[in-house]
Amino acid sequence: MSVIIAIESSCDETSVAICNNGKITANVIANQTIHENYGGVIPELASRVHQQNIVPAIQQALTIAKVNKKDVNAVAFTQGPGLLGALLVGVSFAKSFALALDLPLIAVNHMQAHILAHFIDDPKPNFPFLCLTVSGGHTQIVLVKDYFDMEIVGETLDDAAGEAFDKTAKLLNLPYPGGPLIDKHAQNGNPLAFKFPVPQIQDLNYSFSGFKTAILYFIRDKQKENPLFIEENLADICASVQYSIINILLNKLKKAAKQFNCKEIAIAGGVSANSGLRNALMEAKESMGWNVYIPAFQYCTDNAGMIAIAGYHKFLAKDFVGQDISPMARMNF
Ligand code: KG4
Ligand code: ZN
Repeated sequence: MSVIIAIESSCDETSVAICNNGKITANVIANQTIHENYGGVIPELASRVHQQNIVPAIQQALTIAKVNKKDVNAVAFTQGPGLLGALLVGVSFAKSFALALDLPLIAVNHMQAHILAHFIDDPKPNFPFLCLTVSGGHTQIVLVKDYFDMEIVGETLDDAAGEAFDKTAKLLNLPYPGGPLIDKHAQNGNPLAFKFPVPQIQDLNYSFSGFKTAILYFIRDKQKENPLFIEENLADICASVQYSIINILLNKLKKAAKQFNCKEIAIAGGVSANSGLRNALMEAKESMGWNVYIPAFQYCTDNAGMIAIAGYHKFLAKDFVGQDISPMARMNF
């Protein structure tokens, strides 16, 4: 029997989840809307809002899961990577909670947790599988050999795919985070209306900084010809940018699948909520003969459910940490 409480505070979502014998019975996510006013996450503000949100989120999660805090067996938390001040709030709270109730502590890597979100619901991928993890800060192709035996076989050399979405959205005067809005407008647009250059990068790596600059120049030039270019073509621009990003992502994923002779393919991270990427993966399932794994929406973007399931597998392995643990802004697998 195990009841694990998990805390996620690496960026701008304060989240608390409960895992009861491997089942997620609560996944509370308190969004921080304050950053919308600034066009990006302001680290200092994120820390302050985590501080305000964390106790109510804990209480809400316990209520939803119908669990008394005295019945909790372990406390899992995101150790990193992420914003240090934001992580400090979650880590300090987890340590205090564990100390007060004399519970073991479980440190979880946020990027591993995005991948392990696939072990919350069925169908679950079989090891080894390849996971394309695409978030606001990371773009990685990971060869997952076991729960905590993961190897990054390709990654971005500069910007993440989520940044490419968010920065394009900013150029289009859409509020932060723009990824979901590009997705929404793209549904009414023509993905072949405009063409953007595909980065020529070696191996299984990605690059999105040149792509972002190309979009900047494209919009600037078009606006010189027609000041209403964005307003008149918003859906087509969004659909074309989204189509290009998805092609870049899938081309390397197909290359990796061939190289590792692997047909178990998963996606994870915030950008895996993108409807175009999800559809493209379903098409690749048919054309490539892949077994495809796509997380439920609530487990794509940052959430403590994924920290809880990672914590559960660490709990089974008795992989605990001491009270001297610290958060880490950068963290390898
Ligand atoms: O994993 P996540 O929630 O946070 C990080 O760990 O970074 O990912 C956030 C990123 C943001 O860039 C956001 O714009 C993007 O995921 N995102 C999307 C969609 N939903 C979230 N991008 C494109 N389409 C979406 N539907
Ligand atoms: Zn994330």
